[in-house]
Amino acid sequence: MKKINVKSSRHPYSIWVGKGVSGMAGKALKSLGFEGKVFILTQRKPAKHHLAKVVRSLKAAGYPGVAYEVPDGEKAKSLEVLRGVYAALLAKGFERRDLLLALGGGVVGDLGGFAAATYLRGIKFVNAGTTLLAQVDSSIGGKTGINLAEGKNLAGAFYPPSLVLSDTQVLETLPEPELRASYAEVVKYGMIRDRQLFALLERENERALLRSPRILEDVVTRSAGIKAGVVSRDEFETRGERMILNYGHTFGHGFEKVSGYRMFHGDAVSLGMACAARLAVRMGMLDPFVELRQLAVLRKLGLPVLLERKRFDAARVVGAMMHDKKKSAGKLRFVLPESIGSVTVRQDIPLSLVKDVIREMGAR
Ligand SMILES: NC(=O)c1ccc[n+]([C@@H]2O[C@H](COP(=O)([O-])OP(=O)(O)OC[C@H]3O[C@@H](n4cnc5c(N)ncnc54)[C@H](O)[C@@H]3O)[C@@H](O)[C@H]2O)c1
Ligand SMILES: [Zn+2]
Repeated sequence: MKKINVKSSRHPYSIWVGKGVSGMAGKALKSLGFEGKVFILTQRKPAKHHLAKVVRSLKAAGYPGVAYEVPDGEKAKSLEVLRGVYAALLAKGFERRDLLLALGGGVVGDLGGFAAATYLRGIKFVNAGTTLLAQVDSSIGGKTGINLAEGKNLAGAFYPPSLVLSDTQVLETLPEPELRASYAEVVKYGMIRDRQLFALLERENERALLRSPRILEDVVTRSAGIKAGVVSRDEFETRGERMILNYGHTFGHGFEKVSGYRMFHGDAVSLGMACAARLAVRMGMLDPFVELRQLAVLRKLGLPVLLERKRFDAARVVGAMMHDKKKSAGKLRFVLPESIGSVTVRQDIPLSLVKDVIREMGAR
């Protein structure tokens, strides 16, 4: 088991990574000196496979617990479902001294974190992420929230967990497409900060997809370590560093929007990183050989690198990217690679070049 420490303005917390750490939930809460009861927020699939172990561990440590399931999918991040969570917390007599533990993917984590941040003005929160995306990304950094009818993640709070439990064993039951798509974020960490992680993916992509326990633990530990470092230094996205986590995402959000959100986030990020590298080569900032290495590793992980002509129109994608920015009254900012493990942020890219690059990647 590995431990990673994260700083935040409220309190520091640790991330436990390893095989079987969800079965150490009770012990972990004891080590924090926690004494209340535990509300486990979950969904059908993670509950079916992984709830019993968590409950057993809490019981063994003497913690009373109740489990509450929310519907599957992104629609659980809604005001309506949140209202149900508050009602259940009240009905079960949860108080300020108690704790909410999210057992699920990014959806359960975001919803659970926001419920914990706001119920009785804040109760303790533990994030036990059960998807690769949750373990490498969403469970770290304190962003919580729900969607509104007007758009995604429009209501929320920065609210750090007291503990993150990333049990790599629970990834065994994750559907293959979810696993594959989430590797895009791992490639992202390699490109922005970690040449060794990138090299690991080049060498071990097959075993990574076959969920070798050793590789999963390495992948999660390294990725979580990078995100932990970045958010420890730039908790509220005010110092600029957190921006580098958006590598591949400026383009990616454009693709997601144009597709009507009918694609995996990871697939959009993969396409976005392919475009960002192409753009960096066109700007003369990146060795074309590095672009090829990134393309190769994305392909080997089963991630898309070419835009379907039928699906994507370059002008519409750029329009979607700009729309995001209009709301924040800013300019399009691109995180561009300079080499493997190093990126830079640029605000001076001509839109005509952005459009050219999207066409070069296959769009019409
Ligand atoms: N807070 C942040 O910083 C942050 C960062 C990135 C993404 N997010 C959010 O995360 C969400 C996406 O998260 P996600 O990709 O984990 O999707 P998800 O939570 O919807 O999980 C994907 C699917 O896998 C199922 N599942 C979860 N764990 C499982 C397991 N171990 N075995 C079998 N099935 C399992 C879920 O029930 C669901 O059907 C989005 O809402 C996004 O906005 C938040
Ligand atoms: Zn992402």
